[in-house]
Parts: sequence; structure tokens; C-alpha cells
Amino acid sequence: MDLALLDPIVRAASAEDAVVLDPFSGSGTTGIAAARLGRRYIGVDQEEEYLELAMRRFEDLEGEVAAQARPPECTRS
Ligand SMILES: C[S@@+](CC[C@H](N)C(=O)[O-])C[C@H]1O[C@@H](n2cnc3c(N)ncnc32)[C@H](O)[C@@H]1O
Repeated sequence: MDLALLDPIVRAASAEDAVVLDPFSGSGTTGIAAARLGRRYIGVDQEEEYLELAMRRFEDLEGEVAAQARPPECTRS
């Protein structure tokens, strides 16, 4: 599902720091929206392949957040 569609749904349906549960998580787009909005997330799926894809997306998101949080003096020129 489209991240731009899920963002307002997660925002309206949960408080910040709430736990969002998606028992049909697929590639984890709801979880990515939840994490970006400061929610915690539990995703469940019957397909291991989808769970692995979702985990990779979360790792990429963690990398993006870490890169944005890094102070400028720590970045390479
Ligand atoms: C359309 S995707 C869900 C998309 C997802 N909610 C998101 O935020 O992107 C549907 C998923 O449900 C999973 N699924 C279907 N039946 C299931 C079941 N009985 N238990 C767990 N997962 C199931 C499928 O493997 C598939 O990955």
C-alpha cells in the first residue's frame, strides 16, 4: 500500500508512542508510516519472504534516521 495513504490513517488512528499492530504486514508499509510518526510497531505475516523484506525496509529507515541525526562535523567532506 502507498505510504502517502497510510500516513494520515496511522496519524488519525493512533497516539504518538502507541503500538500499531498490523497482522497482515506484507512489506511493512504501515510499520514504516508508524515508525516515521513516532509509533511503535508489531507486524505479523505468514510469508517469511515478506517479513524479511519488511525488516530490510526498517534497516534502511534506521540508516536514513541515523544519517539525518549525525552532526555535520561527523560527515565526510
Ligand atoms: C496486501 S498485504 C498487506 C499490506 C500491509 N498491510 C502494508 O501495510 O503494506 C497482505 C499480506 O497479508 C498476508 N496474509 C494473508 N493471510 C494471512 C494470514 N492468515 N496470516 C498472516 N498473514 C497473512 C500476506 O502474506 C500478505 O503479505
